[in-house]
Amino acid sequence: MASGRERVDTVRLQDMAYAHRQSAVLLTALELGLFTRISRGARTVAEVARALGIVETNAERLLTACAALGLVVRDGEGFANAPDVERFLVEGQRGYAAPWLLAIGKERQRWFGLGEALRRKDPPRRLGMYETFTVEQARALHEATYSIGIGAGRRFVRHVDLSGRRLILDLGGGSGCYSICAANAWPDIRAIVFDLPPVAVVAEEFIARHGLSDRIAAVGGDFTSDELPAGADVAIMASNLPQYGPELVRKVVRRVHGALVPGGEMHLIGEMLRPEKDGPPGPALWGLAEALDHSTGVAHSEREVVEYLQGAGFRDVSVHEFVPGSLTRVSGTK
Ligand SMILES: C[S@@+](CC[C@H](N)C(=O)[O-])C[C@H]1O[C@@H](n2cnc3c(N)ncnc32)[C@H](O)[C@@H]1O
Repeated sequence: MASGRERVDTVRLQDMAYAHRQSAVLLTALELGLFTRISRGARTVAEVARALGIVETNAERLLTACAALGLVVRDGEGFANAPDVERFLVEGQRGYAAPWLLAIGKERQRWFGLGEALRRKDPPRRLGMYETFTVEQARALHEATYSIGIGAGRRFVRHVDLSGRRLILDLGGGSGCYSICAANAWPDIRAIVFDLPPVAVVAEEFIARHGLSDRIAAVGGDFTSDELPAGADVAIMASNLPQYGPELVRKVVRRVHGALVPGGEMHLIGEMLRPEKDGPPGPALWGLAEALDHSTGVAHSEREVVEYLQGAGFRDVSVHEFVPGSLTRVSGTK
């Protein structure tokens, strides 16, 4: 808390109020293909202007803003991409994650209806945004989630030793990115991607694209209410934690405990708050986003997630840093 003598000003507050400008710079640069053009050799203002088909004054404005935001760095007479931009925002790179950022960017308008969403008092929808999901919407969403999730899937198989494991139950598996990475890393592993029926259709397409249809099945169902496939010795539930309130998450974790074979392990990977619930901002804002979807979802803390697993009967429950500032992994054994 600010002490009486500490000088404060409005800059931090102004930056926050203007944050949509930063978002617009990043997303517009992506839409124009700026970072890909820079990576392919357009370095100076004149070269960038030519490559993007815009006038030099606007190229200069855009590049100056990108430099100020740390997206590009000044490099002699021209500009180069910052290391994370070069790795994740240049088309053709293995880590290309722009589809996800652009998809999230499309939410801009909805966020300006937050006040109205917060004033709603009618009962929330159990499945939130998924209540009316179509196959087409699922395909569009998961083309985007795949671009970010495949990196998380690769990280998961680097962090977790699955040797000796036979069957993964990938709850809310979306594109199947975790199962795909696990199947590629461990030749004896099979997996079931269990997701809502429209998403299971799309998961099958991703699995086939990776040539893994003989080892990964996609099953349609609601993990809060439908019977879960039996026989798995690993359960993964990734990136859907804030979509549900504590009661439903507790229920799902209990159901997973029931479905796993003895000795099986669960990994709940999600956007989690610190135990003090004072951040980081990412997980807190994912929780707030659920007001827009009028779901039961809220941001959960690491401590709460540990308690969900312990309460369901999991042993050796532990917290692991997964993607710092974004995702945490909580695991436990049956
Ligand atoms: C943000 S995506 C994450 C997908 C994937 N786990 C990943 O990390 O890329 C959340 C997924 O959870 C699924 N999901 C949400 N509620 C569900 C439910 N009740 N039953 C089954 N799947 C659900 C959604 O359909 C969606 O595919």
